[in-house]
Amino acid sequence: MCSIIGYEGRGEAAPLLVKGLQRMEYRGYDSAGVAILSQREISVRKGVGKVSEVNALVHMDELRGEVGIGHTRWATHGGVTEANAHPHLSNSGQIALVHNGIVTNYIELREELRSKGFSFNSQTDTEVIVNLLQLNFEETRDVKTAMMRTVATLKGNYSFAAVFPDGTLAAARFHEPLIVGISRDGYLVASDILGFVEQTDKVIYLDNREIITMKDGGQVICDFDGKPVRHELIRVSNEIADADKGEYVHYTLKEIFEQPASILRTAEKIAPEVARAAEMIESAKNLYITGSGSSFHAALVGKYLLSKFGGLNIEAIMASEAEFSPHHLDSESVMIAISQSGETADVLEAANWAKEKGARIISIVNKTSSSLAQMSSLTIGLGCGPEIGVAATKSFTSQLVVLYTIAGLLSGGTLSPRFDNLSRQMSEVLDNQTKIKALAEKLTGLSDIYILGMGANYSIASEAALKIKELAYVHAEALPGGELKHGPLALLDSNSYVVFLNPSDSTYSNVMTSAHEVKARGAKIIGISNRPSEIYDYWINLPSTEAEMFPLVEMIPMQLLAYYLAIHRNANPDYPRNLAKSVTVK
Ligand code: AGP
Ligand code: GLU
Repeated sequence: MCSIIGYEGRGEAAPLLVKGLQRMEYRGYDSAGVAILSQREISVRKGVGKVSEVNALVHMDELRGEVGIGHTRWATHGGVTEANAHPHLSNSGQIALVHNGIVTNYIELREELRSKGFSFNSQTDTEVIVNLLQLNFEETRDVKTAMMRTVATLKGNYSFAAVFPDGTLAAARFHEPLIVGISRDGYLVASDILGFVEQTDKVIYLDNREIITMKDGGQVICDFDGKPVRHELIRVSNEIADADKGEYVHYTLKEIFEQPASILRTAEKIAPEVARAAEMIESAKNLYITGSGSSFHAALVGKYLLSKFGGLNIEAIMASEAEFSPHHLDSESVMIAISQSGETADVLEAANWAKEKGARIISIVNKTSSSLAQMSSLTIGLGCGPEIGVAATKSFTSQLVVLYTIAGLLSGGTLSPRFDNLSRQMSEVLDNQTKIKALAEKLTGLSDIYILGMGANYSIASEAALKIKELAYVHAEALPGGELKHGPLALLDSNSYVVFLNPSDSTYSNVMTSAHEVKARGAKIIGISNRPSEIYDYWINLPSTEAEMFPLVEMIPMQLLAYYLAIHRNANPDYPRNLAKSVTVK
């Protein structure tokens, strides 16, 4: 899970590559590097850290040459060191390669290559690929054949790009994203359109098991067996708008503040698909909903809404647990798969598993060109614009908009979400962020925090806890209110802080009971509610909204709290440590 990029053309490669890497950095950011070919010589500059840090040290963007590749890494095999950073060179120094994914049989391949005299300078699984390319290129003197022979021996999921001594840029895709961009002066390949957003909006989506070779202004695509493949050129201007930080310090803050507008964009654009989704869902014999991380929390809200308002039996399965879950999947089943990226390995595997059993897949994705969208019977695009911050914010609320809309259609009139009201209420919370900022400052030194909610608010508590963990590195735990007395109460004393998601909906009085139990143990209470109460040590006022709509509104103060906690604790909210935005490996 990293970003790869490559350029072949008439312009200078290095500055384009470095810019592209910066845009795709959300995918992985423990090290970075580029390799540029000039006069048949390859120069590599790389190091540990973010693109800007590595560039400040080794000036990657100053290399000169018109063919090159670049990488930002999220280490899977081998520590975060300069030697393990990509690009990797083959033993001859004549081929350079960047790789996204995992080669599962790299130990056998490494042994085989060692027996042929190859040596290895890193602990990565990647280095076998570049040396296999060298071996196969030396034997055939043909890039395409060398690529085909190499992919035939690899196991695992990968995409990679390589520079050959004759000036060819070649790339292959197998279950990791790889998109080709066609600009005025050359070709680009990247893990995400954002990698070449400033160069072009004309793209080709490669399929799995495809190889592209680019040289002297021409390109050829074939499959892993060498059969030529033709692809349509697609214009993607809509998908790439809005990728800048604008006036905001961080993408995360910008994306939090975009929500009053992004939920409306989602609500407006999903009409035809949600109607079809509602029909499919209603007629399904067995209904499942899945996702990972934040998208799983959205799935939990979806389960609540569809059972409560649609009168449906629906099971929520955490994507990574799908294969271990008892199930009744068959050709009359439907699985709703939720994913911002549409590339999360766990979600793809869960959806594949359901599909193999005959189920139809409805996907709710932000990236409509993603692998998940491609394998679905029906895709609902969130249309909330690129989400760059590693933590999901606007994609989560847009996912809820889709689920609320479907539940509304199935509710027989008992649920009719008014997103225009909701948008105004979200803006109100955002306009009054001063109190949340101050609260975050007060909580800076905290090592644990609890977030309590009931009903759908418990799913929001789980999402809020995830935000605080990943952004602020504070241990945060969601508590279902009624479970407090069955155990967690033992943890609470006068040093504890508990956030209560306590809107005036059907959970209100039960949550109040929990608040009294917590207060009696001396813990501090932070109330997130539209009703003031003396029991709160701190009160964050929520605008009043229809009872069922509170989950969407109360998410906003929790995102802001997590963001400002991160700021006060000197963490970079856009790039949480050890994480990457789309987890394309198991
Ligand atoms: C969210 O803040 C996390 N970064 C993470 O849990 C994320 O939601 C998860 O990896 C799923 O991603 P997806 O929606 O792209 O499938
Ligand atoms: N498996 C490779 C490594 O550990 C690539 C990881 C990535 O996708 O960033 O270096």
